[in-house]
Amino acid sequence: MQNVNDVEMYHLPMSDPAMGEDPWPEFEKARAAHPWLAKWDEYGYVIHSYDAMRELFADESKLRPPYADVVDELGQQGTPWGRFTGEQMISLPETEHRLLRNTFAAKFTPRFANQLRPVMRDQIGRLLDEWVPQQSIDFEHFASHFPISVMFSLVGAPHEDIQGMVDDLEVIGLAHSYQLDLFPRINEGMVRIEQYVEDIIEKRRANPDHGGDDDLLDLLIKTSDEGDIDHQQLKDLISFFFIAGYDTSKNVLTYTMYTLLDHPEIYERCAEDYDYCKKVIEEALRWFNPGTVARYADADFEFRGVRFPKDTMLFFPLSISGRDPVTYPDAQTFDPDRPIEPERRHIAFALGKHMCLGQYIARAQLQEAIHQIAQRMKNPKLAGEPGWRMFPGTWGIRGLPIEFTPGKARVEEFEAA
Ligand code: HEM
Repeated sequence: MQNVNDVEMYHLPMSDPAMGEDPWPEFEKARAAHPWLAKWDEYGYVIHSYDAMRELFADESKLRPPYADVVDELGQQGTPWGRFTGEQMISLPETEHRLLRNTFAAKFTPRFANQLRPVMRDQIGRLLDEWVPQQSIDFEHFASHFPISVMFSLVGAPHEDIQGMVDDLEVIGLAHSYQLDLFPRINEGMVRIEQYVEDIIEKRRANPDHGGDDDLLDLLIKTSDEGDIDHQQLKDLISFFFIAGYDTSKNVLTYTMYTLLDHPEIYERCAEDYDYCKKVIEEALRWFNPGTVARYADADFEFRGVRFPKDTMLFFPLSISGRDPVTYPDAQTFDPDRPIEPERRHIAFALGKHMCLGQYIARAQLQEAIHQIAQRMKNPKLAGEPGWRMFPGTWGIRGLPIEFTPGKARVEEFEAA
């Protein structure tokens, strides 16, 4: 048994902007030095192999999410962002988290996500109507409107507020980048989002019939009433849905488009073949995803012959787990027809007790989006160099200039997916 300090391993330059642009050679060096462990000098250790991530998440009792500690480190106790971050679902103590999660998880099924597809389709179609005539766009900017306008439709919220929400979510998404001067703006944004959520709940409670089928907001309100969830927790959960679903979905869609620019035959098939889009999105989530999840060791523990002391910080770059050559033959080839084996399923939505609650909604909206985008933005080409976000936190492309020819939407009868 070795103490983690004594293990020889590669030091990953996680905070270097060059890692955001091209992390793959750095992870190759990490693999050459140690099969699953590397160091991030400022903060802790990086678990970089797919197998080790899975194994550690199989017994999360040794780990605790870092969010409450991060609030202290950033001096944000008692601020709107600090309160929200310390009390949101993912930060709750074990028993409270289990209660909240069990109340909602049973409802967030693939079936429920399928029921939301017509609203998603309609909203994506409207967004494309606005953007396609331009023929030359920053695809990342377009994609930033996509998860939020779909979410607004799913909760019946007025669309004129979208730009304000996008601006607030962009800055809140930078909270974990440790730039202290951003916090006045982050806290303003948090207050606005909380007020916004308060208003939509109040309006819906005053008008529960709202002249349509039950939507996501109805489900959240009814489930929280049945499960005796208090008003603040319901508000926090809805705010978290806006925040958790924004940067993640936007970055996956942007990177998927970036990838498909190099695979025109796959892109064309997405326009024609609705079912094929499912495969493309699953492969896209293996190929790229934005998340690096962090945890603290909650007690001293041993793993694969290495001893980790309590409070060691561990990082799990889910983002690169899908290209681990030990797990995936031909990992650097994008192939939507790659067989999906349960023991090698991608872990873009994490694993264990905090596994993404919105995963079926996320998958459905990405599938619906890519099907319509491929019909309406024909022959897309890169029209400038993309920029990159920092690797830790929510990784992805910052700015993806493209040009395309407008295309027509297919008229098709959809069956439940
Ligand atoms: C492609 C898009 C998405 C990706 C890649 C993604 C990824 C993740 C990951 C990795 C986690 C675990 C975080 C951790 O353990 O620290 C997570 C948790 C969560 N996500 Fe997502 N997410 C996406 C979209 C969404 C959407 C659209 C929603 C809401 C509609 C959502 C709601 C949540 C919630 C509520 C949790 C916390 C679950 C818990 O603590 O029990 N996510 N997500």
